[in-house]
Amino acid sequence: MASDLEVIGWREGKLWFLDQRLLPAEERIVETEEPEEVCRALKSLAIRGAPLIGIAAAYGMALGLRSGMWEEEGLGSRLERLATLFLSTRPTAVNLFKAVDRVRRSVFAHRGSGENAAEAALREARMIHEEEQAMCRGIADHGANLLSPGSVVLTHCNSGALATGGIGTALGVIRRAWERGTLRHVYMNETRPLLQGARLTAWELGKLGIPATLIVDSASAFLMQGGRVHAVIVGADRIAANGDTANKIGTYALALAAHHHGIPFYVAAPTSTIDLAARAGKDIPIEVRSEEELVMLGSKRVAPEGTAAYNPAFDVTPGSLITAIVTERGVVRPPYTASLAATEERVQA
Ligand code: MRU
Repeated sequence: MASDLEVIGWREGKLWFLDQRLLPAEERIVETEEPEEVCRALKSLAIRGAPLIGIAAAYGMALGLRSGMWEEEGLGSRLERLATLFLSTRPTAVNLFKAVDRVRRSVFAHRGSGENAAEAALREARMIHEEEQAMCRGIADHGANLLSPGSVVLTHCNSGALATGGIGTALGVIRRAWERGTLRHVYMNETRPLLQGARLTAWELGKLGIPATLIVDSASAFLMQGGRVHAVIVGADRIAANGDTANKIGTYALALAAHHHGIPFYVAAPTSTIDLAARAGKDIPIEVRSEEELVMLGSKRVAPEGTAAYNPAFDVTPGSLITAIVTERGVVRPPYTASLAATEERVQA
């Protein structure tokens, strides 16, 4: 069994993380004590993927609460400023909002307990990290049961260790199915414009020794039409109460194509990605990123100077196109309004 890839952690009062912008060419670890640097890493996608965004923000809050950093302005004000800083980095993944909220509550709850603010925040951040790792393992076990022997699956973006700090969501399922001998092959979309599939998923699957083939995003429907894909499995950034799911741009088109060809379309996500406060997809904020990411390919301009570009980073797949949502609690099926609410109740219990 391949060893787990570690992409983020806490060492001697500092946060360390793998700078994903440089992969696959360079595996550079960055160490920091500055919450602002963690925010820059989140905005620039040096750290990315819904669960990992939450984990990093939680550790970043702990960095910002070290003694000497808040006494003058007061704990309440410092916490609010830190929360605002982190919440302004990426709007779509709900894990960020949940993690920041958990750290804030935990710090308030431990006031006067003898534990200092940074210790309380760090303890909560470590707990979030460990929970995400455990949830990935649960998702992998449940999700692998859905794949029959000889399966060829298609995935989009990167939902592995690099996105989760654990073994991954959709990629965790793929990994478990490979370990069980039921997975034959993976097709991975390159994931324009930032190439999370080509740069990150290809790198992770290569390290795991899982046979995989890279395709351009627009080749997916062609492969499905030719009967070369048995299931599509993707991660999620936020799942609304009715099952509508925000994930990397291009996911909706994949779901439409899978539906047309009668191919199961699975979303694999921890319950930390479910947002029952969002009743439907229209309630999910969609991040729109810089035009630069489209008109440039690395440092090379690919569109003429002055070309207008529109760069939504996520789209919403209607729950009606999703065959099942795989969580650490089990496989959730339509009607999602009832099944997701029941899953959340079990999490709270
Ligand atoms: O913009 P990114 O790279 O953070 O987007 C990541 C994705 O869309 C993933 O598919 C999603 O976070 C789920 S992975 C656990």
